[in-house]
Amino acid sequence: MDQPVKVQYKPLSSACGVEILGLDLRENLPQQTIDEIRALWNQYIVLVFRNQTITEDEQLRFAGKFGDLGERKAPPEELKERTTGVLQNDQRVMLVSNKMLEGKPVGSFGDGDMWYHIDSGYAKNPYTYTFLYGVELPSEGGNTLFGNMYKAYDSLSQDLKDKLAGQKALHIHQYERRARVDISGDISKIPHWFHPVFVTHPESGRKSLFVDRLMTQRIEGVSHDESEAILEELYAAGENPENVYEHEWELGDFVMWDNRCAIHGRTWFDPQEPRLLRRCTIEGGPLYEELSDYPQNQSA
Ligand SMILES: [Fe+2]
Repeated sequence: MDQPVKVQYKPLSSACGVEILGLDLRENLPQQTIDEIRALWNQYIVLVFRNQTITEDEQLRFAGKFGDLGERKAPPEELKERTTGVLQNDQRVMLVSNKMLEGKPVGSFGDGDMWYHIDSGYAKNPYTYTFLYGVELPSEGGNTLFGNMYKAYDSLSQDLKDKLAGQKALHIHQYERRARVDISGDISKIPHWFHPVFVTHPESGRKSLFVDRLMTQRIEGVSHDESEAILEELYAAGENPENVYEHEWELGDFVMWDNRCAIHGRTWFDPQEPRLLRRCTIEGGPLYEELSDYPQNQSA
């Protein structure tokens, strides 16, 4: 019997990221290959496949091997126009694009730079994984920056780790790209959730910092001023260039990452140039600070 070929790969930076070589994602890959990809994912956080030609259906089929496909979150009515693209026909697919069709955006979140964030980090069940395929790219810029949040956690002082152990933070999303959310008033209509500041990845068992500049707005249990100072320190830890892999897109790139241990952001690009990436996700579950807190690890 033929044995599946061992996956070949090449690390992309000392922060995170690995290029997987020699695979065509249109093919029905054997389970052993999927298992090897998952193992590399747990180790390197961000996986890159170059020179792929993959339809929307093929992308969903491949992504679906890693869990239940996520659906785009429905924004509240008053924020709807910021995220409703006219060519987003499948609830499981988001077109990250600045393109317009007859005066209306074809997708969502597509223009200019975007602050570091966790996809749907403001939800009770943030997406476990995100998959992004490069369809149309500007001549320069629009790179995706990935921060390794295991390394960010490791870099914090023991004092700060002790202080924030057991603490939660507010994650809230107003469908902006580069602005903090004003939480001084009523936030009940703005999507939000409280997550532990530190979460343990249920597969790797490693602890990561679960905070990002765009959506994490408040540390619970401390004063406003102290929360602001701590958050700035935590943002900086996640965005430390030593812990960041910057992906310069090429047409046909297929990039997939783990939202439980990475933040990502986007660099600026010329708004006159079209950019379109096709995104899908895997649905996640609640995140916990300790491995023993996950329901499957609790004894009856
Ligand atoms: Fe994102």
